[in-house]
Order: sequence, then C-alpha cells, then structure tokens
Amino acid sequence: MTVTHRTTSVVALAAALGFAPALAARQTFALKDLMPKGMVVGVALNQRQSDGVDTAAVDIITKQFNQISPENLLKFQSTHPSEDRFVFEAQDRYVQFGLDRKMQVIGHTLVWHSQTPAWVFQGKDGGAVDRDTLVARMRDHIRTVVGRYKGRIHGWDVVNEAIDEDGSLRQTPWLSAIGEDYIAKAFEFAREADPGAELYYNDFNLEKPAKRAGVIRLVKSLQSKGIRIDGIGNQGHWRLETPSIAEIEASLLDLRSTGLKVMYTEVDINLLPQAARGADPSVANPYANGLPEEKQQELARRYADVFGVFIKHRDAVSRVTFWGLSDADSWLNRGRTNHPLLWDRQRQPKPAFDAVVKVLQGAR
Ligand code: XIL
Repeated sequence: MTVTHRTTSVVALAAALGFAPALAARQTFALKDLMPKGMVVGVALNQRQSDGVDTAAVDIITKQFNQISPENLLKFQSTHPSEDRFVFEAQDRYVQFGLDRKMQVIGHTLVWHSQTPAWVFQGKDGGAVDRDTLVARMRDHIRTVVGRYKGRIHGWDVVNEAIDEDGSLRQTPWLSAIGEDYIAKAFEFAREADPGAELYYNDFNLEKPAKRAGVIRLVKSLQSKGIRIDGIGNQGHWRLETPSIAEIEASLLDLRSTGLKVMYTEVDINLLPQAARGADPSVANPYANGLPEEKQQELARRYADVFGVFIKHRDAVSRVTFWGLSDADSWLNRGRTNHPLLWDRQRQPKPAFDAVVKVLQGAR
C-alpha cells in the first residue's frame, strides 16, 4: 500500500469523524507555499536535525520551510572552542542541509557575550584581554567562519544582543575591552569576509520603547559611518499576553523606518509562568500532562494575531523563523513542559498551525 493511499484513508476517516478540514489542511499545506511573496519562513535546527538523525523532524522541515537557522552550531563556542582550533564538521552538514533543499541558510551568531568561550576574553597574563588582541581575535574568528561559507550562507547575525533594556550599550567583555566601536568593526570584518552576505543586528524585547530606541540609534550610527547593515532581527520570544499586538505592530513600524529589512528571527510563545527556582511544580509547571484545550485555542489565536501583523506589513518583513520545530525541541522547556511552537511533542501540527495556515490563506 502506498503512502498516498494511506494518507487518503486517514483523511476519509477524519471526514467520517467530522474533523476533516483541520486534518486535511495538515496533510496538504506547507507554510512555505502560503507565505507572501518575498517573505521566507524558517526554523532553527538542532544538531540531530541538521545531521539527519531525527528523520521525522527532517521530513516536516523539508516539507514546510524554505529557510533554516542554526540553534547552536555556529555560535563562537561551537566553531572556535580554543584559540588555535576551529570546528566545522557538523557546521558543514548544517549548511549543506539547507543548500540541498534550496533553503535560505542563515548564520547565527558572530559576536555575542553568551556562548563565547572564556579564552576569547583572557589576556596572556590571565587578566582581561587588551583591545588590540581582542580586535585581532574577532577579525580572525569572523574571517575564518564567514569566509568558510562565503557564497553559501545568505545572511549573518553579526552582533547579537548588544543593547541593554534602557537602550544603552550592554556591558559585555567585548565593550569593555574594545570600546564602542566593536560593533562597527564586527560588521566591517564580516563585510570583508563575504561581501555578498546580508548582515544583521539581532536582539530581543524590541517592543520595549527604550530598548528599541537604543537599537535604532545603533543602526543609524552604523549607517552614518557608511557601514552597511542589511537588516534588523527581532527575536520574537513572546508570551501569550505580552507584548500586545499593538506593541508588536508599533515596533515593526519603528524598525522599518530605518529602511532596513525587518526579520522575526526566533519566534516562540512561552506559555509557562515566570517562576522562582524551587517553586511548587503545580504552579511552575502547570502543563506537564498536556495543554488544556482552552490554552491550545488561546495559543492558536495568538499566533493568528501575530501572523496578522506580519501579513499586514508584508512589504517590511522579509523572514519569519521559529526557534525550534516542535514543543519537544524548544529551549523554553528547561526542566519544565512548555508548548510554544506549532508542532506538539508527537510532532503533530497543533491548532496553532491550522490558525497560521488560515491567516496565510486569507491573505492570498
Ligand atoms: C538558545 C538555544 O536555543 C539553546 O539551545 C542554548 O542552550 C542557549 O541559546 N537568543 C538567541 C539564541 O539569540 O541563540 C538563543 O538560543 C535563545 C535566545
């Protein structure tokens, strides 16, 4: 019996049971085919996915998406664990995964305070590294990593999370050792290493006006120095109630006023309460046995609303990327049971998937 035949009978059975439309939609539709022209839809891959080991995930990713991001593989600590050692095996497979499927392949991320090994910021005497040494290390890192994938990686998150909540430059070892021009230098080195790649600044909480203003100041200062930057990545790590749709829309309009592409680079909707360590599990982990139908529907509505904004401003948004494929893959679990994505732990599409499909169909 062929796969097609089996699929048909599942749909027929579903129809008999009275839930044909949803199931049929799940069998038939691919997000990548429904997105507006000029807007790609992607997902962050973990290594089991880019290695091809998690075949169930690979099937869904191949069918649904036309863009990929590396969840961890291209971070500094993964590619450059010690000064004289670069690691590229799994990284090469990640890039090839995307090229084989004609997907847009993104690089994430070159300069960040997190997931960067301690050696980077250490001087010879064991104290803090000096400016010239750190600039040289940054250049070496960017040249080697960006250079390796020249012409194959479409765009890079060059600098990640460099702005603090109040809009000032975040205090990081990059800033304290090099000074404010570390960001401009990172963009220049990336440009030299691959003049054809798009270069992005990426951050979260951009719906907060003070932080967003800081990001826009940074972008304008780069532009005024003649440094080319192609896009702003808004991570989009959101919750069910916050930020509001009005805040998401206001933020988008503000970011697009820079003239740059706006991308939603790490979308997920956190459903768990903020809870202190050691909090009562019934409070901290309320959906350990599954998501109640009512929450499932709230999540679906939230995703529909969010995609409504993307669609309304389709000329400004060039990409939407989910930070993980299924709830089982999400970084938001961290010892609890979260349900932030469009596919559940059994890799079945959730009502949120159907809701996104519906919004996209309505816009066509
Ligand atoms: C996260 C990964 O998903 C986790 O697996 C890892 O342990 C920590 O980093 N902002 C970013 C991403 O830019 O790189 C982070 O990814 C999530 C927050």
